[in-house]
Amino acid sequence: MWKMKDILIMGIESSCDETSISIVKNGREVLSNIINSQIDIHTEFGGVVPEIASRCHTEVINGVMKMALKEANITLDDIDGIAVTEGPGLVGALLVGVSYAKALSFALNKPLIAVNHINGHIAGNYITHKDLKPPFLCLIISGGHTYLVNVKDYNDAEVLGKTRDDAIGEAFDKVARVVGLGYPGGPKIDNLAKEGQENIDLPVTHFDNFDFSFSGIKTAVINLNHKDPNINKADLCRSFEKAVTEMLLNNVKKAINELSPKKIVLAGGVSRNSYIRDKFDKLSKEKNIKVYYPEGILCTDNAAMIASSGYYEYLKGNFADLNLNSVPNLKLQ
Ligand code: KG4
Ligand code: ZN
Repeated sequence: MWKMKDILIMGIESSCDETSISIVKNGREVLSNIINSQIDIHTEFGGVVPEIASRCHTEVINGVMKMALKEANITLDDIDGIAVTEGPGLVGALLVGVSYAKALSFALNKPLIAVNHINGHIAGNYITHKDLKPPFLCLIISGGHTYLVNVKDYNDAEVLGKTRDDAIGEAFDKVARVVGLGYPGGPKIDNLAKEGQENIDLPVTHFDNFDFSFSGIKTAVINLNHKDPNINKADLCRSFEKAVTEMLLNNVKKAINELSPKKIVLAGGVSRNSYIRDKFDKLSKEKNIKVYYPEGILCTDNAAMIASSGYYEYLKGNFADLNLNSVPNLKLQ
């Protein structure tokens, strides 16, 4: 029987503090996903320092690429296309990946594919759930982004709502910093909150549309901690998780009523959070709608998700040329 040729896409991700290169087969099967995290370097400064991030990417990217090929057991000749994060992200950090991808594309004469990092986060789910196909309702919750979108097709997401100020992950990281947990704060809050009670009232922001806001709750936590430095940190973290999850659930429930989606998908670093997952699992049972999350490593920044998103552009023949530039504030639409 005639069999379609396997398509191997190399994904390149360098939008923030992870240099990652991956080889993905047919958009769904990870052959390698090398992630060089700079977390230890930035921890000293309490957050990502853009200039240091760019320099680190430059130093390691070639080694990361060689490891990705080795682990996938292929050579550069076997690759069908090179997908790279075009934006959003830190301009200098993005430029390292974009320049590297352009050089490879030119030298190998292979198609170059520009990927929106947010579409990449969504695509992380296609790898974990081999049968998942659009349409679905998707909540992208990460360090830099908070979006509720209606995914109509691969890489085709209609924005329903977004944050008006801080991203949810920024709020997690800031709260962790003020209560003394360090950077990156999300996983640390996740752990400490398991020992706490939901006994502190924190503001929950509502809008008439699907937008979010996390600056109010962030400030409230900072003020409470300032007024009473001996406040129980575990209770504060747990109450913070309760309030932000309520904000997420409010908008998702509103979207369920208006759009009747058959599937709900979570994506982005914060979708690793165990409290949030627990509440969305409850919502899934209550509304009888399946909820999907990427496996842990595919929630946070990685290149496999970029390769998967790039694969669907490859199928459409949507290629970039060598004028491709990084777009730090790239939007979804
Ligand atoms: O998706 P990501 O790697 O980067 C962006 O594209 O922004 O997300 C990183 C964010 C950080 O804010 C980190 O604190 C958060 O994801 N995060 C978590 C957890 N693991 C990572 N937040 C809450 N709970 C977690 N378990
Ligand atoms: Zn990300």
